[in-house]
Amino acid sequence: MVIKRPSDVLPSEITPKEVYLRRREFLKAALALGLGEAVAVRAAESRGARLPEVRRSPLSTSEPPTSYKDITRYNNFYEFGTDKSDPAERAHLLKTRPWTVTVEGLVRRPRVYDIDELLKLAPLEERVYRLRCVEAWSMVVPWIGYSLSELIRQVEPLGSAKYVEFTTLLRPAEMPGQRLPILAWPYVEGLRLDEALHPLTLLCVGLYGEVLPNQNGAPVRIVVPWKYGFKSGKSIVKIRFTESQPRTSWNLAAPHEYGFYANVNPTVDHPRWSQAKERRIGEGFFAPKRDTLMFNGYAEQVAHLYAGMDLRRYF
Ligand code: MTE
Repeated sequence: MVIKRPSDVLPSEITPKEVYLRRREFLKAALALGLGEAVAVRAAESRGARLPEVRRSPLSTSEPPTSYKDITRYNNFYEFGTDKSDPAERAHLLKTRPWTVTVEGLVRRPRVYDIDELLKLAPLEERVYRLRCVEAWSMVVPWIGYSLSELIRQVEPLGSAKYVEFTTLLRPAEMPGQRLPILAWPYVEGLRLDEALHPLTLLCVGLYGEVLPNQNGAPVRIVVPWKYGFKSGKSIVKIRFTESQPRTSWNLAAPHEYGFYANVNPTVDHPRWSQAKERRIGEGFFAPKRDTLMFNGYAEQVAHLYAGMDLRRYF
């Protein structure tokens, strides 16, 4: 993964070599394809529609939220490019309607949900969560959505279902990053079923009171606040229940660096940098770094999910 703002960790250190080289290929090919024009550099100035009847959730942190501007301009969404500013500049290309999410696999009631059904499936809540990226920066985001467990209950997983796989849209015509082999497209992430059922795991449709901006994963994404940000897949079109552990995009790209669990853990360093501290976006480069908290500060709620597990091995 790449970061743009200054930090102790250099971009060349963060990005696995394979991905970094692919990124250079991407930039070269983008120039050759004239994508500079086609992908029209257009900042997302306009704000989204307000979501009605959003109640505040007791699961929120009391920390002050990061600004709307930082949350929507400093993004990781490799389908639109690898620079932090690429998603805000290019994600307007993505058409988020019509949109369906197929729920399939080991469930009694497989179903295709239209996005409008999903928006009404359960009362919308504002959940202010810390987001900790594997690149050692963090934000506080007032997400809107409801517990993913509400949807899972409707489809009734079978006893054999142990994992849940989330697949992002594959549409290279609107997602220019997918025209190059930066990652194994489509982006796939996964959780153990008990993690997916945890009340903190959010099916997210908005932020700051409004529909989700495209660059943050419109029209629907997952948010798992105790894990590194890459576990929270954006622009989801498929949710599949499986018996075996899903093969996830980052784990396939660099298995020694990005484990399946990816729980925020200050005591287990990334092979190429420390995870002990983090920089809070918006506080300025000279602000002291913050200590990273075990499970991103959600240990009380989630530590029991990993009782008896060696978290160095299952990183
Ligand atoms: N989902 C998809 N489909 N593609 C991505 O590149 N990046 C991940 C995650 N979900 C990513 C994704 C990473 S690394 C992070 S840190 C978060 O999205 C960032 O979410 P945000 O841009 O809304 O802050």
